[in-house]
Amino acid sequence: MDHFSLVDGQLFAEKVPLSRIADEVGTPVYVYSRATLERHADVFRDGLAGVERKHLAFAVKSNPNLAVLKVLAGRGYGADVVSAGEMDRALAAGIAAGDIVFSGVGKTEAEMRHALAQGVGQFNIESEEEGRMLAEVANAMGLTASASLRINPDVDAGTHAKISTGKADNKFGVGLHVGPGIYQRLSELPGIALRGVAVHIGSQLLSLDPLEAAFAKIGELVAHLRGAGHAITHVDLGGGLGVPYQADNDPPSPADYGALVARVTKGWDAVIQFEPGRVIVGNAGVLLTRVIRVKPGIHDPFVVVDAAMNDLARPALYDAWHDFEAVAPDGTRMSANIVGPICESSDTFAMGRDIDTVAAGDLAIFRTAGAYGATMASSYNSRGIVAEVLVDGDRFAVVANRISPAEIMAAEQVPDWL
Ligand code: LLP
Repeated sequence: MDHFSLVDGQLFAEKVPLSRIADEVGTPVYVYSRATLERHADVFRDGLAGVERKHLAFAVKSNPNLAVLKVLAGRGYGADVVSAGEMDRALAAGIAAGDIVFSGVGKTEAEMRHALAQGVGQFNIESEEEGRMLAEVANAMGLTASASLRINPDVDAGTHAKISTGKADNKFGVGLHVGPGIYQRLSELPGIALRGVAVHIGSQLLSLDPLEAAFAKIGELVAHLRGAGHAITHVDLGGGLGVPYQADNDPPSPADYGALVARVTKGWDAVIQFEPGRVIVGNAGVLLTRVIRVKPGIHDPFVVVDAAMNDLARPALYDAWHDFEAVAPDGTRMSANIVGPICESSDTFAMGRDIDTVAAGDLAIFRTAGAYGATMASSYNSRGIVAEVLVDGDRFAVVANRISPAEIMAAEQVPDWL
């Protein structure tokens, strides 16, 4: 459920007409709804009511906007980060360092030092080599790093190949068969205190079966590690729950997911950690755009909008579907190709799509753009970086300024020998 709906024939975000935001901020612009963010944060937590001891860490990569992080911090969420930059954002939004989990396959020495100095709660380490580096860095600082070992359970998440992370040939984590040996060797090092294991098999999962398979393997590993004398106090089950991008998508509900987790983790006697991203922010954001012109095509017309693949990369990268709706629909429909102005054919949001009829100058939205939207924006084709707005009831604020092409150009210089 979200708070983007038609009121008297006009699309609103909560109590703000989207046309007002377009007039005042311009387009393209991401628009987030605070009420939707808070609702999703609460629904996800409520779904986990059957899990006694838990820690929720919002996956910052899905939407690192400071205002969004602040809203989620207000709902009791910690953060899952994958770079020093993301960590600094989480801290700036008021998330306690101890509630931050630092994931990622390529943490640098500098990032480890930075995170340790801030008092980060946990590192999820992805290789023996990384664990050794972390131990050395922490030891040299006179600290002990809390860490969990990320396991690659070799389970097919059944999602798009580019967002699948739990197959043996993916770069993430260490295999189940080598996990216990690595855990043992790392636990003997000074500077690092292993406290558990972590798993994350992929994103936009539309079935619970692969999660259940992965969690069951993790349960066996936890028992095995305990048998070898390791005190396992934390198990991180990652994120990955899908959201409905299309009417016929039917992702498991947070309640179904929570029931599965409660059942599978019963008796684990550990803090169960979660790293949800998309399920919290996906439907809490739309990308508001204006139609530049409609150009005839061989079959369908091309609706050229002022948002492009540099603003919303998901369709170009993953053939992702985002519903397209007119802000002031007249009740008629057309079949069209929706494209941006960028000079390559991958700048296509949809082909032959049945949409509200739109004409040059009309406003429209791409739905379910709150996750992996603005954060993946670039300035390709020397376009600016898209602005972001947060709506709260009948008020709204710009929470990320549009960065103009001139500002981007100002960061470049031509050497005097040219
Ligand atoms: N934890 C880890 C270790 C992750 O790698 C990810 C996502 C998450 C949590 C959050 O997963 P979520 O709950 O959002 O599914 N750019 C792609 C998605 C990449 C996901 C990367 N990892 C997209 O636009 O679909």
